Amino acid sequence: MKLTTLLLSLSLLAGTATVAAQDIIPLPQKVEVQKGKLSIGKPLNIVTNLTGADKDDLVGFIQDSPLPVTCTGKNSSRNYLRLTIAPDAGHGDEGYALTVTSRGAEVVAGTTAGLFYGFQSLLQLAEANDFKSIDAVSIEDAPRFQYRGLHLDDSRHFTSKEFVKKQLDALARYKMNRFHWHLTDGAGWRIEIKKYPRLTNFAAWRPYDTWKEWWRADRHYCDQDDPRAYGGYYTQEDVKEIVEYARQRHITIIPEIEMPGHSEEVCAAYPLLSCANDMYKNSDLCIGKEATFAFLEDVLTEVMALFPSHYIHIGGDEAAKSGWANCPDCQKRMKDEGLKDVDELQSYMIHRIEQFVNSHGRDIIGWDEILQGGLAPNATVMSWRGEEGGINAAKAKHDVIMTPGEFCYLDSYQADPSGEPEAIGGYLTLEKVYSYDPVPAELDPSERHYILGVQGNVWREYMPTEEHTEYMIYPRIIALSEVGWTEPQRKDWQDFRRRVNAEIPRLREMGYNAFALSTDIETPMRVDYAKREIKVALTCERLGVDIRYTLDGSEPSASSPVYKDSLTVTGTTLLAAKAFAGSEPVGKTLHTRIDCHKALGKPVTLGEPHSANYPASGAATLTDGYRGGKGYGDGRWLGFLNNNLDAMIDLGAVTDINYIEMKSMQAKGPYVWLPQYVQLQVSDDGVNFKDIAKLTHDISTEREEVIFHDFVWNGQTRGRYVRCYAPIVDIDGAWIFVDEIVVQ
Ligand code: ACM
Ligand code: ZN
Repeated sequence: MKLTTLLLSLSLLAGTATVAAQDIIPLPQKVEVQKGKLSIGKPLNIVTNLTGADKDDLVGFIQDSPLPVTCTGKNSSRNYLRLTIAPDAGHGDEGYALTVTSRGAEVVAGTTAGLFYGFQSLLQLAEANDFKSIDAVSIEDAPRFQYRGLHLDDSRHFTSKEFVKKQLDALARYKMNRFHWHLTDGAGWRIEIKKYPRLTNFAAWRPYDTWKEWWRADRHYCDQDDPRAYGGYYTQEDVKEIVEYARQRHITIIPEIEMPGHSEEVCAAYPLLSCANDMYKNSDLCIGKEATFAFLEDVLTEVMALFPSHYIHIGGDEAAKSGWANCPDCQKRMKDEGLKDVDELQSYMIHRIEQFVNSHGRDIIGWDEILQGGLAPNATVMSWRGEEGGINAAKAKHDVIMTPGEFCYLDSYQADPSGEPEAIGGYLTLEKVYSYDPVPAELDPSERHYILGVQGNVWREYMPTEEHTEYMIYPRIIALSEVGWTEPQRKDWQDFRRRVNAEIPRLREMGYNAFALSTDIETPMRVDYAKREIKVALTCERLGVDIRYTLDGSEPSASSPVYKDSLTVTGTTLLAAKAFAGSEPVGKTLHTRIDCHKALGKPVTLGEPHSANYPASGAATLTDGYRGGKGYGDGRWLGFLNNNLDAMIDLGAVTDINYIEMKSMQAKGPYVWLPQYVQLQVSDDGVNFKDIAKLTHDISTEREEVIFHDFVWNGQTRGRYVRCYAPIVDIDGAWIFVDEIVVQ
């Protein structure tokens, strides 16, 4: 099928005819559709007041694009593409105005970046009409945030130079302007440093192809010429080429050199930089030794010569800090510098490195752990363990980039894990990414400007191939591009869903292995506690499919009713739903119980506290009628960290009970396990309890896949109070997640 036919059929299926200008991603701030169109059957003549290298860069880029253009050097009053720099026209650093009439197209901006983004919008408009014409339009546009980034972990698995450039092309398309390149980590050092050849002829190679094999085996490295060697590195020439490629696309590459943690590969290549003075003993660099600072300064000197970026990322996350306590050098450093603990020792290193980087006219970015032990004075904080680090940094008047795991970690599953290639864990749908607002409500208006922007992180432990990596990046980074660009009042999930459904076939046509959007059926619901009813909607990400359903749990077929309006449940309904393309079933069947049950809205007392990090709606979560989705981070799952679940529900009066169900989940990667068992008890007075069942399971804690398990009891009993006691597995740092306790 031709691309245009495919797009047309998608938009017809979606039932929403729109003009191209309303389809641009990220959505511009102001779009006025005008009458008429510009024919581009003949090439547009580029007319510009740009000069020199600026002109060569932009005109060259446009000439390499699919838009038919010429550059005669003469003015034109018809069929022109006018690119006008107007520094005083008020478009800011990256904004632009784009006007298309039947005579020509004009982009006006204060900077070449603004012209570039105006051209990106124009390109999308032309694509939508198959490069035959461009709809007349006036657009005024500028980004919400100055930092709109993608991070790529090239340590865990190496990628080709061509792959990196291809991702830069996509970032430019979505008006993203930062590429955070994670070049060093325990799984391999990836950048040539002339002064330290062992980083790349040894620490860039390992005798295992996948991170997982390496991690589970000995975590050793090997020589580059070892027949088993897997890995690679970018030469300084490669880096220069990629940096220049990015520059032409108005993307700054921010290199990350990890310290003091995630440095196993450095400690193996140069063991004297570790506390143990030996290979394969420490993951952190030794902070006591001056040699460590000499090494880092040498490396950073070469790195700064290659990367013009104002920011250099120095890592700072997840240092084990274990070797420092027993290292005479580190202990001496702490004593000499009056450092009271290992957090302050880490902070000492970051301060010192910051001073070095500052002395070269650059600034550092670090992961939010650099707050521990005292933040370096000029550091920008990248908040990944939630938003708390970012909030604290902004309150301390430091710049912040938001990249919280819950919204920005593109290594999580994007659809039902059982149908997806193995991921590291977590669950992050496109809609959830799209919903993110990087400015936390906790910040005062005067503090909000410290939030520079937002970034999607692509950690690649479980992404051994380039294809798989693209599958995880797209389309979620597209949603994040709009989070970074478009003002929140302009954002609308349903409209984005329509646009991204049309964008994916286009991206795939361009050769990106984008995830084609989920046909998993979601069941957003609203509980009416007064009426004791639950209204359930059925939706899925993918447009152009019908959702068919049954209410008796039987498998939906092509003759089952098509979902139109929300369903109302008053008792227990065994809902089954599935997406169909015409009469063909696609994707998986959703089977779920919806219970407007006896404990609905009843008070719950917890014997042990839930975690403050996954509070959902507190204890009431367990009887609120809202069922959790495929990931524990959706606000419907109540989390318990290192605690048992001990929940007592008060039904308000002695009640006949014949069914109790508790759903829990297991995801080994993030340390989420089913409880050991569930002990059920009932009581009339809340004091004297009688055991009614001990519900066990035989699901091993070693299982790798994400598992959902219903603990179910059927029988006959009576009582006012129902108690569920579910002990946690005997693993330090373990979680229990529960969404609901159903009583019928
Ligand atoms: C991180 O995810 N360790 C920054
Ligand atoms: Zn040490």
